[in-house]
Parts: sequence; structure tokens; C-alpha cells
Amino acid sequence: MKKQIAVLPGDGIGAEVAESAISVLKVVSEKFGHEFEFKKGLIGGCAIDEYGTPLPDETLTICRESDAILLGAVGGPKWDGNPSELRPEKGLLTLRKSLDLFANLRPVTVFESLAEASTLKFEVVNGVDLMIVRELTGGLYFGRPSERIGENKDAVVDTLHYTRKEIERIVQKGFELAQVRRKKLTSVDKANVLESSRMWREVVEEIAPKFPDVEYDHRLVDDAAMQLIRNPKQFDVIVTENLFGDILSDEASMMTGSLGMLPSASLSADGPGLYEPVHGSAPDIAGQGKANPLAMILSSAMMLKYSFNLSEEASAIESAVQNVLNEGYRTQDIADSHSPVISTTEMTEKVKAALTE
Ligand code: NAD
Ligand code: IPM
Ligand code: MN
Repeated sequence: MKKQIAVLPGDGIGAEVAESAISVLKVVSEKFGHEFEFKKGLIGGCAIDEYGTPLPDETLTICRESDAILLGAVGGPKWDGNPSELRPEKGLLTLRKSLDLFANLRPVTVFESLAEASTLKFEVVNGVDLMIVRELTGGLYFGRPSERIGENKDAVVDTLHYTRKEIERIVQKGFELAQVRRKKLTSVDKANVLESSRMWREVVEEIAPKFPDVEYDHRLVDDAAMQLIRNPKQFDVIVTENLFGDILSDEASMMTGSLGMLPSASLSADGPGLYEPVHGSAPDIAGQGKANPLAMILSSAMMLKYSFNLSEEASAIESAVQNVLNEGYRTQDIADSHSPVISTTEMTEKVKAALTE
């Protein structure tokens, strides 16, 4: 199979882990006889420095012309004081919106050999396998107005906007994913306060009869945040709006041992998917070879599965990661007092070696 993959390394550890994913994919292509062509583009802070914009036209064109997109992470203290249009995060948000990547799949899978690395008890997290389905192109992130207001600009407004269609398509996606998993969907909202959440609940009720074999319930987001820590194994698929999904997925990452373990896929109805780790550019460890590359490597496995339909190849990467963890290799974020700590590139080499075994 011949595919073109856009690679947008971005800033901080984004660039470090993007290299890991490329080198793992090269091993996969050799092993399974595929041809992957990688085309790099700038996004985020590095694009602001080079072109004066966080998403240059050239980058968007490369993405549109590719079969899938791999993205590292954007952002950093250097650009934190910038106005909103000139922030690195704006580049990522514009990319998601431009490609209509409304469905963000964030699987939370606990590898048994890492269950001890979680801050939660072994018996609480061992066996957790859930998927957060986050709406990615609406809600508070994109509603307008979003600005300082009033004569003295001493008030502020952000807008939570959703159309019924936007809610319908993500809820539909949540049910579809639940149907091919353990057939349980939890819709998370704040319907006791927000009108948008009340429309969200209505839509869930309307779509549910199309999936009679899927058991579903509604939970308020504050309760859901608590339940995730209390008893995460009660969840299969969680479907929720943009900001709630952002927060719940970082929270859920701690079951896996580290934010550096969580991959994601962002999908549209057609067109290329975007695959990126859930974590950010981690300025605190950038440039030190400390980043855990597994979230990015597992994101590339999601790309193989969801964009290229290469399930066997995706499973090969997942098994390689599992084997390396079983052998006890750890980056600093998942290490305990008796495991020797290895670097980003060493971890990548271990995964590559496990793939060729
Ligand atoms: P972050 O995810 O970058 O880091 C949070 C903590 O997790 C840090 O202590 C970091 O060292 C650790 N961490 C994250 N990824 C890791 C990995 N792979 N291996 C080991 N440790 C890891 O979140 P933050 O510090 O709040 O944000 C930093 C910047 O990243 C901000 O500019 C933010 O906007 C941006 N950000 C970007 C994305 C993205 O590009 N998708 C996502 C989240 C945050
Ligand atoms: C994520 C990030 C982004 C988001 C930021 C960087 C815009 O936190 O992908 O989770 O909030 O969606
Ligand atoms: Mn986030």
C-alpha cells in the first residue's frame, strides 16, 4: 500500500516524539511491504517564528493532499503572551476546523505491566479499557463572540455554541463505536445548568432507538469526573462535548500511568484523519530526551487502523509497545524506584526492535 503522510512535529517534545513515530512507521512499512511517504509541515510556535502565522497555507495544503496527518504538539512559554490569533494553539484549532475533524477518539487502555505506575490503586485501574469520544470542532472553543467587552473592556464573553447537526453526528459516532466495543455508552453533560447540554440529552434520546443493543446513560460531568476515579471499569464509551472531553481525557490518562501514554485520532466524515498524542509540548522536559514517545507511537497505530484499514499492522505496533513495557523498559514519567530510566530515542529503538522480533 502506498500512502502519503503529512507530519507536523510542532513545538517542544512534539518534534521529538514525531521522529519516533516516523522511525517506527518506517519499520512497519519494511516489514509489511508498504510505501509511506512523509511530508513535513510547520505548525504552532515554530510556524509563527518562520512565517508569522501558526498555520501557514502551505501546511494546510500538505495536509489536504495527504492520506493522513501525524502531529506532535504545539505551544510553549515563548508564545504564551501572544494575542489569540498568533498563539500556537490557534494553528491546531484552525487545522481541526478546516478539515472538519469533529470526532476525537481518545482510547484509555491500561497496560497490565504499567498498572502499578498509576497513582490510582492497581485493582481500580488494571483492566481499564475505555474510549472518550470528544466533539472537537464546536462548543466553547469556536463560539463567537469570544472577547473582552464593555466600555473599559473589563468584562469578557466566551460562547458555547452547538447546532443540532453537530451534536447528532458526534452522538451517532459514539453509539457506533459502542456497538463494536462492549455496547455501553455514557453521555456526559451539564444538563442541570446548561441549555446546550439539554439539547445534547434530547439528541441522545432521539438517536438511541437506532441502537437497541447499546445500553446508554446520561451523567453530569462533575459526577463523571468523580466516577472515573472511583470506578473507571464501569465505562466503555464516553461521548461528550469539546471542553468536557478535553478535561476528562487528561484526568483519565493517569490511569495508564502517564499523559505520555494516551494517543488520539481526530476524524471527519471524509478526508484525512489527524493523529496526535493527547499531551502537549511539555516545555518542562523539552530538549532533554525525557519525553515518553509511546502516546505518539500509539497514535500512529491508530492512523494505520482508522485511516488505512491496516489492522494487523496497527496491532503489531500495539503488541510491540506491550512487549517493551512487559520487559520493564520505562521512560521517566512511568518509572518506579527500581526501573532503570531510558530516553525517548532508546524507548523508540526498543519498540522498533520488538517489531522486528
Ligand atoms: P503538557 O501536556 O505539555 O504537559 C503536562 C505535564 O505532563 C508536564 O509535566 C509534562 O512534562 C508531562 N508530559 C506531557 N507529555 C509527556 C510525555 N510524552 N512524556 C513525559 N511527560 C509528559 O501540558 P501543559 O504543560 O499544560 O502545556 C504545555 C503547552 O502545550 C501549552 O502551550 C499547551 O497549550 C500545549 N498543549 C498542546 C497540545 C497539542 O498540541 N495537542 C495539547 C495540550 C497542551
Ligand atoms: C488537546 C489540547 C488542545 C485542546 C489545545 C492545545 C488547544 O489541550 O488537544 O487536548 O484543548 O483541544
Ligand atoms: Mn487537552
